[in-house]
Amino acid sequence: MERESTGMSVDTASGEDLHAAMVDQLVADHMEKGLVMRPEVEAALRSVPRHLFTPDAALAEAYRADQAVVTKRIGDEAVSSVSAPWLIAEMLGQAADAVDGGLAGRHVLEIGSGGYNAALLRELVGPSGSVTTIDIDPEVTGRAAACLTAAGYDDVAVVCADAEQPVNPGRSYDLIIVTVGAWDISPAWTAQLAENGTLVVPLRTFGMTRSWAMRRTGDRLVSRSQRLCGFVSMQGVGAHQVRYVDIADGVHLRLDEDQQVNRLAVGELLAQPQPQTQAWAGVSLPPRTVLADLDLWLASRITDAGQLFVVLTAQQEAVDSGVVAPAWRFGTPAALNNGAFCYRSTLRWNDDDMFDLGACAHGPDAASAAGRMVGQMRAWLDSGSPSPVLHVLPTGTPDGDLPAGTVLDKRHSRFVLTFTPA
Ligand SMILES: C[S@@+](CC[C@H](N)C(=O)[O-])C[C@H]1O[C@@H](n2cnc3c(N)ncnc32)[C@H](O)[C@@H]1O
Repeated sequence: MERESTGMSVDTASGEDLHAAMVDQLVADHMEKGLVMRPEVEAALRSVPRHLFTPDAALAEAYRADQAVVTKRIGDEAVSSVSAPWLIAEMLGQAADAVDGGLAGRHVLEIGSGGYNAALLRELVGPSGSVTTIDIDPEVTGRAAACLTAAGYDDVAVVCADAEQPVNPGRSYDLIIVTVGAWDISPAWTAQLAENGTLVVPLRTFGMTRSWAMRRTGDRLVSRSQRLCGFVSMQGVGAHQVRYVDIADGVHLRLDEDQQVNRLAVGELLAQPQPQTQAWAGVSLPPRTVLADLDLWLASRITDAGQLFVVLTAQQEAVDSGVVAPAWRFGTPAALNNGAFCYRSTLRWNDDDMFDLGACAHGPDAASAAGRMVGQMRAWLDSGSPSPVLHVLPTGTPDGDLPAGTVLDKRHSRFVLTFTPA
């Protein structure tokens, strides 16, 4: 966040100034992304002093719009945090958009406690609504409860348990907002949602995490919106690990715990003596074009074509030395088959400040693999840059009862990804 642009020094600014500047920044970020912050979300953000939930952080850190404040680590891994304000603001917006009639008077369950988001929800639901927050870690619930009380929100119910299981069994919620990275939908969440209730959940599909806002109809959930995001991983019974497999120095594939690849075979494709093949889609896109939906489109098209979809990540050194040239080194869609390893490559900018999309491939079938991937990119653009819609059905749902789309089977659920024009 460019806090200097507000004209004040972060060293001398008061908490109130920093708080106001953070919310101004969040509103501006929304506009830049083509989103509109709902007035009630902005009012909640202006009301709740975030620094009361991050007592160990400096004021300037507490009011950074773009950063989570990590509150607990195990080894190098962050396991708990007060989430980044930009992400909290977007997820609250998703929730408020999806709940018919808005959040006032609603009964909300938050999964993953930090205190701050629960306080914002308390503001949003008002006196006739209720907020329950649950966390698996007693240290976190103890801290969240103390911060909520100190900030005057002692009417938030704080529960310590694994949210994979029902919370307050028999009770139903109008909104369940999950603030920890999930891989599947626990049946308890669907069961505890009121009919037409809303679930907002950061979910890993095809190795990529999006915050999905979904509405329940019977035993099904269908998404209304999705946003790019990242979260600490779910612990407890619903935990599902991410694995990183090295395929070259500083180059990795990010895989789900049960996804298998022949690491040596991919490494060999990458190390082929012939140069990599680069193909271009031959399109001209404006600078702010959002490509997150394209990445899910590629995941779905690659899977439907019977190839293995994987996510490529790379260290900066591997990019600088030209081993790989991924579109985004923290997670780029890639396709793998016997004859080629192919991924979405860096953008090509032209003199008019527009860019083209490309694919890079390695291996004997590199040319056809790269051509196929840029063809899939063109198809997404030709279809009007459609957005993904996620359908979640219980495991055991027969194939014939699934909507037409790309199927991803999880432990408790069958996910189907479809696309609708934006
Ligand atoms: C990002 S933090 C939550 C942030 C918080 N909502 C805020 O106000 O900023 C994620 C939390 O999820 C919790 N968590 C992880 N697995 C869980 C589970 N199975 N059930 C309940 N909480 C869980 C972690 O202990 C961690 O405190």
